[in-house]
Amino acid sequence: MANKYLEGNFAPVHTEHTAVDLAVTGTIPEHLNGRYVRNGPNPVAEVDPDAYHWFTGDGMVHGVRLQDGRAQWYRNRWVRTPRLVAALGEPPRPPRPHRAGMLGLGANTNVISHAGRTLALVEGGVASWELTDELDTLAPCDFDGTLPGGYTAHPQRDPGTGELHAVSYFFGRGNTVQYSVIGTDGRARRTVDIEVGGSPMMHNFSLTDQHVIFYDLPVTFDPVQGAQITVPRWMRTPAQLVLSALIGRVRVPDPISAAVGRTLRGNANLPYRWDPHYPARVGVMPRAGGADDVRWFDVEPCYVYHPLNAYDEDNTVVLDVVRHPKMFVRELHGPNEGPTSLDRWTIDLADGKLREARLDDRSQEFPRIDERLLGRRYRYGYAISFDTQGEAGDAILKHDLARTTTTARSLGGGHRVGELVFVPHPGGAAEDDGVLMGFVYNSDTDRSELTLLDAATLDTVASVHLPARVPHGFHGNWLPDAT
Ligand SMILES: [Fe+2]
Repeated sequence: MANKYLEGNFAPVHTEHTAVDLAVTGTIPEHLNGRYVRNGPNPVAEVDPDAYHWFTGDGMVHGVRLQDGRAQWYRNRWVRTPRLVAALGEPPRPPRPHRAGMLGLGANTNVISHAGRTLALVEGGVASWELTDELDTLAPCDFDGTLPGGYTAHPQRDPGTGELHAVSYFFGRGNTVQYSVIGTDGRARRTVDIEVGGSPMMHNFSLTDQHVIFYDLPVTFDPVQGAQITVPRWMRTPAQLVLSALIGRVRVPDPISAAVGRTLRGNANLPYRWDPHYPARVGVMPRAGGADDVRWFDVEPCYVYHPLNAYDEDNTVVLDVVRHPKMFVRELHGPNEGPTSLDRWTIDLADGKLREARLDDRSQEFPRIDERLLGRRYRYGYAISFDTQGEAGDAILKHDLARTTTTARSLGGGHRVGELVFVPHPGGAAEDDGVLMGFVYNSDTDRSELTLLDAATLDTVASVHLPARVPHGFHGNWLPDAT
């Protein structure tokens, strides 16, 4: 069976490049001193197209370093899990004690910096990894032992405090997910276990000035697929209890239950499926509250990977989200169950109702904002157009939430745009005074560029020409040098 997540620009690359002094068209703003980094799946070995799910490919981080208006280097590096080191035929690295999570899969979803560390992030109980400035792998990250059992690909940084808020899920936690706050010292200072309806894939959450928002939506752990997962000994008891309980509830063929405990190889099926019987709900917890303070609001069944932003207004909570109509029903190789939309969910805390409205019905994904306004009222959002096949298109969408208009700029047919991060211009007054930055693939040349657009006009400011293509991937960020 063909698997489009292994074809075209989804196909993995096989070379780790180190290219210096890259050619640039246009002008890189001189204040941009730092690294643009982006993570994504890139299977190191041949994979079975029938089984491969895009979310399970080995992680590869791509980075471009900008300095004083020049593009100093491009590097791409696999995140070196023990399995990946073996696949590359490199000498095994001495094991380092950690409680970061499962090592079977690589960290392939996001890459950030926090407390002086560059972190390749993933979710679902799988370990995140610390990288060097030049993207080489250092060690699994458990935040100095303060946050065992896996983190998330989508922490959100409070722009007021610089702390990382997050919601982590893992099937071994049973019917709970964990809210955490990592301080600016890189250590967890608070964790709260939140009871949910089962074992959902909770890819993301929202943070407002006053609230933490949980998306408890009907994509849940599939024990048949999950039966193959082996977890580290210290995570094992709860995980095996959950597995046994779940497997007890569903009819599982003997060979599968016998397989419980086998290692989940990288590049395998994803153990999550759409569950039509699972109630779709949104939870609202005051930031300083506890598990008992969460209020739940029903929402039409759907899936959300990425909120654009969220904020409090009077006695409501406003959630702007990219809504997928379903997830993992027919397409089991990637996230493609029909066109998405940008929706606004307004939760009225007084009357206890959640109201849904459509802001933009163009299919889109990878929404980003000026993150200085995370959790606060904001005006502009940026997203990437998606085509009918669920693939990134050639256009950037700029949403003006004040005027309720959307501007689109197409880069032309041969281009495929990846997520674009907004980087503010220092001292800029307007919310869109800055650049949008991310990788753009050109199928005409089979190469990628790091593209910088003026966020106000969407005009191209600069293109950094890379020596290779960057496969379609997930999330990237601008990591400015420490000042
Ligand atoms: Fe994501």
